[in-house]
Amino acid sequence: MADALRLTAPAKLNLCLRVGPVRPDGYHPVASLMIALDGLEDTVTVRRAARREVRCPGIDGPANLAWRALDALEAELGERLPPVSVEIAKRIPAEAGLGGGSSDAAATLVAVRDLLDLPLEVDALERAAARVGSDVPFLVRGGAQWATGRGERLLPVPVPGDLWVLVVPPVTGLSTPRVYAAFDRLARPTDPPVEPPAAPWDRGGWAVNDLWPAALACAPRLGAVARRLGAVGARHVLLCGSGGAMAGLFGERDAGAHARAAWGPGAALCRPAGPRAFR
Ligand code: C5P
Repeated sequence: MADALRLTAPAKLNLCLRVGPVRPDGYHPVASLMIALDGLEDTVTVRRAARREVRCPGIDGPANLAWRALDALEAELGERLPPVSVEIAKRIPAEAGLGGGSSDAAATLVAVRDLLDLPLEVDALERAAARVGSDVPFLVRGGAQWATGRGERLLPVPVPGDLWVLVVPPVTGLSTPRVYAAFDRLARPTDPPVEPPAAPWDRGGWAVNDLWPAALACAPRLGAVARRLGAVGARHVLLCGSGGAMAGLFGERDAGAHARAAWGPGAALCRPAGPRAFR
């Protein structure tokens, strides 16, 4: 039996994010085409250990979502886990809307299940994931999913082809609750759509983020980032989740590579990733 297991934890992109009026529980109903990104990921290593430990630069211990993932596994199992240590190597920026902390938690769920050979099927892992955060079930599954509810209800959709994504790091970090609070002040939302858009991603309908005006109000400097992404040739420009990272979408690899070179250090050129292969 292995003593350690290492998994990658990819960033996510909301290729479309429609947001409805706030619910009584404080969450917002969403409808989102979510894709996992190949080209920007953290690495999560889990090991059997004498006591529980989560090590991650800047966010160690119980404050880390990976710690909450271990609690959620115990709640799903109805018993305590043998102790493990979780070590996270970060590449995905924080407060970026790229799901970094959520992806670390998702990778922790899968890695600990496999390391300890826990009797949990994928649907049980997804239930545990939903206890940790709205984006975590998606990051357990990966690939491309149409997400509804508060983001935890998932329907697989084809992974978009001919899509290259230039992710540029946040000029300023944005907290998700802060952006949603600005959305509540500024937007006049209606219920989000139930069905995914039928058109291919580059024909409109997808590259929309309803949180953009709220994020721009919180961080006006994002306007210049959006203009610069347009200037390096992006076909569509998107706020990533609740921000503050931004993404430029390209239909050809060369155009994406040219834009990355023009942008300079810090930008990552990504492709949509396939769904997670479970053991
Ligand atoms: O689910 P998660 O813990 O990641 O959500 C963090 C915060 O983001 C919530 O407390 C809420 O303020 C906001 N949120 C929301 N509607 C969603 C997802 C998140 O209002 N669908």
